[in-house]
Amino acid sequence: MLNKKKAPPDPKQSKILSPKNGLDNFRLGFGMSPKCPAVYLKTFGCQMNIRDSEFVTGLLLDDGFRMVDSPEAADVIIFNSCSVRKHAEERLFGNICDLAGLKKKRPGLIIGLMGCTAQNYKDEALTKAPMLDFVCGTGNEKDLPQLVGDILKDRCRIVAADKVNEKKPEPMPEYREGTFKAYVAIGEGCDNFCSYCIVPYVRGRERSRRAEDIIKEVKDLAVRGFKEITLLGQNVNSYKLTANRSPLTAKTSDFVRLLEQINSIKGIERIRFMTSHPKDASVELFKAMRDLDKVCEHLHLPLQSGSDRILNKMSRGYTQKKYLELAGDYKKTLPEGSLTTDILVGFPSETEKDFKATVMVMEKVGFDSAFTFKYSPRPPARSCALKDDVKSEVKEKRLKTIIDIQCKISEVRNRALVGKTLEVLVDGHGGRDPHKLTGRTRTNKTAIFSGDGKLTGRSVNVKIGSVTPYALLGRMA
Ligand code: 5AD
Ligand code: SF4
Repeated sequence: MLNKKKAPPDPKQSKILSPKNGLDNFRLGFGMSPKCPAVYLKTFGCQMNIRDSEFVTGLLLDDGFRMVDSPEAADVIIFNSCSVRKHAEERLFGNICDLAGLKKKRPGLIIGLMGCTAQNYKDEALTKAPMLDFVCGTGNEKDLPQLVGDILKDRCRIVAADKVNEKKPEPMPEYREGTFKAYVAIGEGCDNFCSYCIVPYVRGRERSRRAEDIIKEVKDLAVRGFKEITLLGQNVNSYKLTANRSPLTAKTSDFVRLLEQINSIKGIERIRFMTSHPKDASVELFKAMRDLDKVCEHLHLPLQSGSDRILNKMSRGYTQKKYLELAGDYKKTLPEGSLTTDILVGFPSETEKDFKATVMVMEKVGFDSAFTFKYSPRPPARSCALKDDVKSEVKEKRLKTIIDIQCKISEVRNRALVGKTLEVLVDGHGGRDPHKLTGRTRTNKTAIFSGDGKLTGRSVNVKIGSVTPYALLGRMA
């Protein structure tokens, strides 16, 4: 049942609606329109957001809506938004405000916000962006077709953001963006409450999907010809097979059991997963990555900072020493594997000494690549109580320094692959050079080479001839 909140009275009259039947309302109200309402859905953010957009698209299609790929062609425009970093959120609200002209021309146009930002701002989003007609929180996404149908019929503003801890209904709609690579969520939410992070607030408490549901989804994908799946969770290592896992069971074990089961599904060629939290990742996981043939040799293990003082303030639950040991164990177990990370500079009170510790860990570990970020306070995350005292120029300088360092390290790591022949799953044309094919190695590196577009979705062998920090250049072997 939709639980709708009354939105602020202006600029349009608000209304609380009783739950009705989605698009049927629209059809009844408007007399069975021969034209299904067209929806344009724009996604900002991480893989989880991309997967949520697929989920919602599936629901909308099942409910009789049609999807279009331009805002101009749409009756309904939805933004699925990320709020992990301030920059992404600013871009989002900029994009919504850019629609003011279109909305003026076509007052019937419906504009909505879903995802983390919707969950975070709730009613306030309607004030921040007055052209918004609805706000749909992360746990209310399953009700989205009904919500849109109600607005189309009754022309009111709706805020539905009261179900942050809810699980998605099973089975999920079949709709997928791709044809050979798919994201499969194994859980939602996060219980870690890293002090800088908004995720636990906007995605709720950690809840694992039932293994049977995950396995069924992957089997169905395999039957449909999907070859690569990426298992998604805020912290996959704390996946739970049962709601009440024994405290004696090592955290990673349940996830490893899940990997074993998925590894035996016929048709699937590659299994990836993200993200792993260093406090929960273990040698047991690395051994599974080594021994399970379909599990790719790539680990994303966010470091965030190399300074124990900052890690402690971030509530990350590990030390520099523990991280270095873990990275060492990974490299020992999977010498050919790749290791990538996230690094956050400019956390409150970060000194030059703290920053140097981060650089030291980067150089010692030798990451294959790193996503690098400047800290921004994200209310209601706990770090907002700390003064954001690292000057913006200092953050900028530190960011540039680690980008440059990582660039060099990445190139060295890639150079070691020259002369090797690697298996590449072809993504198709569409890189910088439209005549070339791009694809990913098992270690998740981008390979660029000449070939026929018909190879898209197939695995080929590529001999690496040269490299850049960001890609391997080669020819088909
Ligand atoms: N400021 C900057 N970066 C952040 N991240 C998470 N929260 C913040 C924040 N408040 C980064 C972390 C995380 C990645 C997904 O985003 O590095 O791993
Ligand atoms: Fe955020 Fe930490 Fe959870 Fe990752 S593990 S989603 S950084 S709270």
